[in-house]
Amino acid sequence: MRNYQSSLALGGMAIALSVLGTAHAGIANTKHNLSTSHIGSSRFYTDTTEICLFCHTPHMTVAKSDNIPLWNHQISSTVSTYGTYTSGSFNGAGTIHDVGGATSPANATVTNLCLSCHDGTTAVNALYNASNLSGNVNPSVAGNTPADGKLGATWASNLGTDLTNDHPVNFTYDNALFAADGDLHDPQDTAGTGLGGPKLFNGTVQCASCHDPHIDYSGANSAQTPFLRVAITGSTLCLKCHNK
Ligand code: HEC
Ligand code: HEC
Ligand code: HEC
Ligand code: HEC
Repeated sequence: MRNYQSSLALGGMAIALSVLGTAHAGIANTKHNLSTSHIGSSRFYTDTTEICLFCHTPHMTVAKSDNIPLWNHQISSTVSTYGTYTSGSFNGAGTIHDVGGATSPANATVTNLCLSCHDGTTAVNALYNASNLSGNVNPSVAGNTPADGKLGATWASNLGTDLTNDHPVNFTYDNALFAADGDLHDPQDTAGTGLGGPKLFNGTVQCASCHDPHIDYSGANSAQTPFLRVAITGSTLCLKCHNK
């Protein structure tokens, strides 16, 4: 009986561990794995075995600025502005979508990092520092990937270069905005509770406030599709910042 119970307990642990294992498998199991080990549903992949390379490398990255974690993907160089979000009720201030990474990659924001692939103007395999493993040449595109290496013009993942019809990004979200808007949660409340999930970068809203480019959103985490920091079920993500 004892033995039976303990083997049951062990079995339970094995199942729990394997569930955890799946949930934390990370970027390799997502569409951001652009390597030869890409997932089955990927329509974009290349001939290198490296996964992080498309976004990070340990040496010779883009000139360092805040929030740019050893960035290796070429910042879009032909876009000077993504437009400015406006609406009668918007209380945010700042440059909003006018992220201006084009003229000076060193000034790029976290939003520019995502747009370096997702504005559709720059090849996904255009890197600052190609890998030694592939003889210091950029990886080649493979499979059904468009030959120019850019996200397909009609793909939903290609947001284009006009972001005036997208959720505002690249603006400060602080105590003052909370007070001015009246319908937000306070990211700087005295209890230090913060937003609980969404992430601010130097106090600003960026693409990666809502998205985590590394998380596995398959299987148990499917409510976090696509790459969301918080489940979208019941609009939970939105309600972390908006008090509606
Ligand atoms: C498709 C692009 C992409 C790929 C591939 C990628 N990252 Fe990132 N990573 C980002 C972006 C964008 C940020 C900045 C936004 C953020 O912090 O979430 C970041 C931030 C980070 C950070 C700093 C913030 C943090 O979360 O700790 C680390 C460390 C990191 N990445 C490690 C990795 C490693 C290791 C790999 C490969 C296994 C990898 N990344 C692959 C896009 C990527
Ligand atoms: C990281 C926090 C955060 C998350 C998560 C978030 N928002 Fe926002 N959103 C803001 C802030 C801050 C503003 C600017 C509010 C203002 O000034 O009116 C804003 C602006 C907006 C606006 C425009 C308001 C206007 O007056 O023009 C809408 C609509 C909106 N968000 C909807 C959503 C929806 C829907 C979701 C979920 C898919 C969402 N937001 C998720 C922080 C967030
Ligand atoms: C190195 C290029 C690259 C960078 C940088 C990058 N992505 Fe992607 N991303 C891709 C590719 C390729 C796909 C798959 C496109 C497709 O199949 O339509 C993708 C897909 C996505 C999807 C859709 C996933 C789905 O299941 O449909 C989201 C959301 C996304 N990326 C968000 C981001 C965000 C947010 C950032 C920055 C934090 C980012 N990406 C940075 C290349 C990139
Ligand atoms: C306020 C939160 C929020 C911000 C900020 C945000 N996103 Fe998203 N994004 C979402 C949500 C939620 C979805 C899923 C929408 C759906 O399921 O219809 C999504 C979907 C996407 C998709 C998939 C598009 C599709 O229809 O398949 C891409 C790619 C993407 N986001 C990239 C970005 C990039 C790049 C930025 C910055 C310019 C950004 N997102 C900023 C919340 C956000």
